[in-house]
Amino acid sequence: MAIILGVVGSKKSHLAQNSLFLYIFVPVFVDTHTHFYDEWLLPDAEEAIQRALEAGVGKMIQADVDSHERPAMWEIGKRDPGVLFQMAGLYPGSVTAENWKEELALAEETATSHKIVAIGEIGLDYHEGKDFVREQKEVLRLQFELATRLNLPVNIHLRDAWEDFFEVLSDCKHLHLRGNLHCFTASYEIYERANRWADFSVGIGGVVTFRNASLPKTLERIPVEKILLETDAPYLAPVPFRGRRNESAYLPLIAAKVAEVKGLPVQEIETITTHNAETLFGI
Ligand code: NI
Repeated sequence: MAIILGVVGSKKSHLAQNSLFLYIFVPVFVDTHTHFYDEWLLPDAEEAIQRALEAGVGKMIQADVDSHERPAMWEIGKRDPGVLFQMAGLYPGSVTAENWKEELALAEETATSHKIVAIGEIGLDYHEGKDFVREQKEVLRLQFELATRLNLPVNIHLRDAWEDFFEVLSDCKHLHLRGNLHCFTASYEIYERANRWADFSVGIGGVVTFRNASLPKTLERIPVEKILLETDAPYLAPVPFRGRRNESAYLPLIAAKVAEVKGLPVQEIETITTHNAETLFGI
């Protein structure tokens, strides 16, 4: 006989009580944006996945970048189905005038032939220069259309490019996009504008733990139902690991800070953000 006390996540434990077994389903954290295939993390990816599981992070979503990194992403991803999930998409920093058509075709081919949970990470990145602004915007628009065609959420990477993002997004409002703004560090006004033309959550990572970060103030105003947790590992490690290599195992440090900002117990943040992630990504 089994009594299901609550189905929230996928981590299952059972307690023997005489001959009665109680199956208790407890929430597990979801890291909604990570890169185990990155060369900084790849050498001990297996151990890093194990450390994450031991830290209570039960599901991890790998963001795609381009055709060079994609084979390693799938290689790791296929070893842990149900734990690792993958996106497909062309990262804006990988767009050049020469390669974008071919790269986009490869990302699209992956998206249509593999089980993926989002189109990402996609977006605009002008941090390294504005040489390929036109191409980046076109690639973003085409990937928005792809997401709607496949009925998938989008995972957005943005750097120094909000106004152009809003231009593309408003042009695409008929696509009824849903997704999340990965590594969100912008203002509440930006969050509100993004939600005029689509349904966006925010991906909160290690930056929220940094001293002097303005993000906690912004986060106070964003509903908890719109918050997702992420590490972006191996980058942007939370305090006290700031500046060092990041791992999914550090996600509870981010959750603790979000709990503090929201004035809620960390277990409640875990339950809500896990539900948010499972709903958005269908995992
Ligand atoms: Ni990333």
